[in-house]
Amino acid sequence: METPPSSFLPLDALLNNPVFAGGIGLGGLGLAAAFARRSAIQGASLVKRRLLVDLEISKQDDSYQSILAWLSLPRPPADFITSKITRIHHLSMRTISQSSQHGPTHKQYFLQPGYGRHIIRHKNAYISVNREKQTSANLNTGEPHETITLTTLYAHRHIFEDIFAEAHHLAASAQEGKTVMYTSRGMEWTRFGDPRLKRPLSSVILDQGIKERILEDVTDFLGRKEWYVDRGIPYRRGYLLYGPPGTGKSSFIQALAGELDFSVALINLSERGMTDDKLSYLLTKLPPRSILLLEDADAAFRNRRQVDEDGYSGGTVTFSGLLNALDGVAAGEERIAFLTTNHIDRLDEALIRPGRVDMTVRIGEATRHQAGEMWNRFYGDIDEDGKGRERFLERLEALDLVTDATGTKRPKLYTSTAAIQGLFLFNKDNMEGAIDMAEGLIPRTYEPEARDPGVKVPA
Ligand SMILES: Nc1ncnc2c1ncn2[C@@H]1O[C@H](COP(=O)(O)OP(=O)(O)O)[C@@H](O)[C@H]1O
Ligand SMILES: [Mg+2]
Repeated sequence: METPPSSFLPLDALLNNPVFAGGIGLGGLGLAAAFARRSAIQGASLVKRRLLVDLEISKQDDSYQSILAWLSLPRPPADFITSKITRIHHLSMRTISQSSQHGPTHKQYFLQPGYGRHIIRHKNAYISVNREKQTSANLNTGEPHETITLTTLYAHRHIFEDIFAEAHHLAASAQEGKTVMYTSRGMEWTRFGDPRLKRPLSSVILDQGIKERILEDVTDFLGRKEWYVDRGIPYRRGYLLYGPPGTGKSSFIQALAGELDFSVALINLSERGMTDDKLSYLLTKLPPRSILLLEDADAAFRNRRQVDEDGYSGGTVTFSGLLNALDGVAAGEERIAFLTTNHIDRLDEALIRPGRVDMTVRIGEATRHQAGEMWNRFYGDIDEDGKGRERFLERLEALDLVTDATGTKRPKLYTSTAAIQGLFLFNKDNMEGAIDMAEGLIPRTYEPEARDPGVKVPA
């Protein structure tokens, strides 16, 4: 409290001086006004401190997007006054391209609260929402930091729990039946596109028993956490899938993640700018409940130290970098990793160690069994007696693309499941067309050396 220091002034003398008295009067008014203003501000901030609660959510937080989505929900019609004050006046648009397994890509548009202040009403509480871009930026991605601050009366603070529960539920139901993909952006994992429809495991056709063997192993691992912890072993398991391109390696991992309700965290080891440091850092920060997928594992073994045609020489992962990243003490204690490669011959045996790679599986050229299963998926409903299927398989046999029915004679040529899928897609609902065009499955260039010498063709 400030008072004029009057005690030591010859007050009477001064007050009797008309000029000075006028001055002091004005000064006094000013002082009183300043005092009033200050108390008002102090009072307001006291009220604010005492009566309001803030909750700040930063964009880095997992809940940010779900809160934003929750805020965009249409609200039930309110009474007149509420509807006047709780309108969201600035909107921003978010467009999502969604490619679904069973349909064309379509775009979805979402309106979100834009930047600035909005008032909303939830249940009985009024909540002020402030969405702001900060002046600082995320050093990894270059994006400005962003926050949403929710403010409500202290008495209504429990509404926040309610909002979070609803937002969480909303996000969970939006992801139901979907698989989330993460990729690295800068030094961070970010969601790649929107969650995709789960790919059913049954839609990936591998040779007999392969899917089951891997699924069983992963499931067993997931149930054994304690076993690992008790023995002080990092709770990690690695799988290496190898074989020619277009045999369903990536599709299988995607479907497996869906089956287990995991996300996929994808790194392409041949991607530009992926360095040892970045890789090992990313592996320490895997998104929760995700399968790590390292595509093109052989990239780490190629000698790519020389300059590319366009003069680019940096940003490669080395073999020791890959091993360090996989073994790293900090590298997420819990981990399921899948590595894929088209060139098993380029990999080093050092990769096959418990925790790095525990199981190696070859996903190979299409077999008779796979061709038959794929036929069933495409033409099962129109080829009721299975005669078309038999003719198709005989044709593949005659073309020397698959084994004979007894599984004894090894084919001279090979084809891939991706090629068979292409053939069937071209001949939708037209099985005769598919049989007629089967010759197109013969690879244009036949490179015997490209084929793994150890290929096992099961019956
Ligand atoms: N075994 C398979 N079963 C079902 N679809 C397959 C199979 N192999 C390949 N495809 C299809 O071919 C395309 C390429 O497959 P992909 O999984 O990317 O092969 P890879 O990773 O082995 O190169 C995808 O559209 C996929 O659906
Ligand atoms: Mg692949």
